[in-house]
Amino acid sequence: MTDIFSVKDKVIVVTGGLGQLGSQFSQWLASQGARVAIYSRRPFSAEQTEAKFPGLGKRIVVYHASVQDKDALEAATRQLVAEWGTPHVLINNAGIDSKPSGSADQNGPFETYPRKYWDEVIDVNLTGVMQCCQVIGSRMAGQGRGSIINVGSMYGMVSPNQALYAYREKRDGVPFFKAVPYAASKAGLLNLTRYLATYWAPKNVRVNTVTFGGVKTANFDKEFIEAFLQRVPLGRQAEIDEFNGVVQFLASDASTYMTGSNVVVDGGFTAW
Ligand SMILES: NC(=O)c1ccc[n+]([C@@H]2O[C@H](COP(=O)([O-])OP(=O)(O)OC[C@H]3O[C@@H](n4cnc5c(N)ncnc54)[C@H](OP(=O)(O)O)[C@@H]3O)[C@@H](O)[C@H]2O)c1
Repeated sequence: MTDIFSVKDKVIVVTGGLGQLGSQFSQWLASQGARVAIYSRRPFSAEQTEAKFPGLGKRIVVYHASVQDKDALEAATRQLVAEWGTPHVLINNAGIDSKPSGSADQNGPFETYPRKYWDEVIDVNLTGVMQCCQVIGSRMAGQGRGSIINVGSMYGMVSPNQALYAYREKRDGVPFFKAVPYAASKAGLLNLTRYLATYWAPKNVRVNTVTFGGVKTANFDKEFIEAFLQRVPLGRQAEIDEFNGVVQFLASDASTYMTGSNVVVDGGFTAW
């Protein structure tokens, strides 16, 4: 029987593939027989790769290429194409946000939000995706096939609800707002996806967004989690492996008629 969800021997680029979700996708897809090229902003040796992904060292390779550096993306991709051939799938997963633990101005009111943080987030989350699509997507288009998966967020579909963060000011006595550039960058991804889906449709390169809700990790305040879970219809955060299925689906031939779409996996957060 043919497995329509198979990713066996597909060459898959995962940007930011050493992070929380990126390493999960890389590990899962490699375990399913794909060959995964991680593009990382920091150097990572073959020994470190084998240690992080035990037994998968031959199926996962890490290239040192920031999504902000087009020359580095070109160099990594030339090397990748020489070694494994033109990628079949690009997962634009690298992303940054203003850190809740960051300085007061990074989490302060919109009116005085510093341009430098706006630029940083837009540069990675939106311009970085554009550059990866230019470098890798263009090669896919040259082959007449490919699937690009842009990792979005529910905060690209709806605004962050500032009430969820109000406990911070009460607790710390300093105004705290979930900052603007992450939401704006992830919203921008939705139409970058549609633009490229239509632009590259004649070349059979599919482009879709996956919109994720919050993943369970240890570093959330109790007050935040309590308020947040009230607003999630399923009443819980995602487990770290609960996005693997949708990513594999979009990477595989099970989704060959899907392009320009936004697949929402958020426990229902944006449904009410
Ligand atoms: N976690 C969630 O709850 C959640 C929810 C919705 C959407 N998302 C999205 O899912 C994606 C992954 O998030 P995550 O939670 O796994 O975050 P994470 O653990 O911080 O991972 C992000 C990765 O991106 C890398 N990165 C940052 N800037 C880069 C650059 N210029 N070039 C290449 N790589 C770069 C980071 O590199 P370093 O390893 O060097 O730091 C890190 O490995 C992001 O796009 C995020 O917006 C996450």
